[in-house]
Amino acid sequence: MNIRPSLDADKPALRALHEQAFGDEEGILVGRLALALLADPTAQPVLSLVAEDADSLLGHVMFTALTLDHHPTPQLRIMAPLAVTKARQGDGLGARLIEEGCRQLQADGVECVMVLGDPAYYSRHGFTSVHALRPPYELARPDAWMARPLAPDALSSWQGVVNAADALNARQLW
Ligand SMILES: CC(C)(COP(=O)(O)OP(=O)(O)OC[C@H]1O[C@@H](n2cnc3c(N)ncnc32)[C@H](O)[C@@H]1OP(=O)(O)O)[C@@H](O)C(=O)NCCC(=O)NCCS
Repeated sequence: MNIRPSLDADKPALRALHEQAFGDEEGILVGRLALALLADPTAQPVLSLVAEDADSLLGHVMFTALTLDHHPTPQLRIMAPLAVTKARQGDGLGARLIEEGCRQLQADGVECVMVLGDPAYYSRHGFTSVHALRPPYELARPDAWMARPLAPDALSSWQGVVNAADALNARQLW
């Protein structure tokens, strides 16, 4: 299994991967979101990594920019979407994509990664629920909004509502 940056040529396979991993309606939404984020200048800087074997893509993770009002360039990213093909779920690929992404971001000076997801899963990967940095929409499950600091004291530096990329800034995605 190899992890590498996604390429333009991967786009059809990426959409298919999300559709399959998330299933039905949510899969279509997430597949569209992944391609929209790849094309969205407001999502930059983007880190998009795929896990593959010799035959096919097995997983995909994206990290895109978050900004904060009154703070020009917070080194903050949001991790979304993340998916592993159904047949390989539970093999540790999700964990490897998260770790490789965070490793590369940390090396680039990123201080914190946010995620909106299941606390039972993400708490196993260094994410904890956070309140000082708020999501753009009110959430049904506020504890699903989580942060993984990549630098000491990262979370104490910021507060307020984050602004996500245009492609992520839709109520139905939160
Ligand atoms: C969530 C997902 C990315 C995890 O990837 P993965 O490669 O299967 O995960 P890993 O192999 O690293 O970890 C597997 C472990 O996480 C657990 N896990 C997976 N999803 C979980 C969830 N939503 N809540 C709690 N635990 C979860 C598994 O039960 C397994 O536990 P075990 O190690 O005790 O057996 C993958 O299951 C997936 O693509 N799911 C569908 C899409 C999705 O939900 N994406 C995340 C949206 S926030």
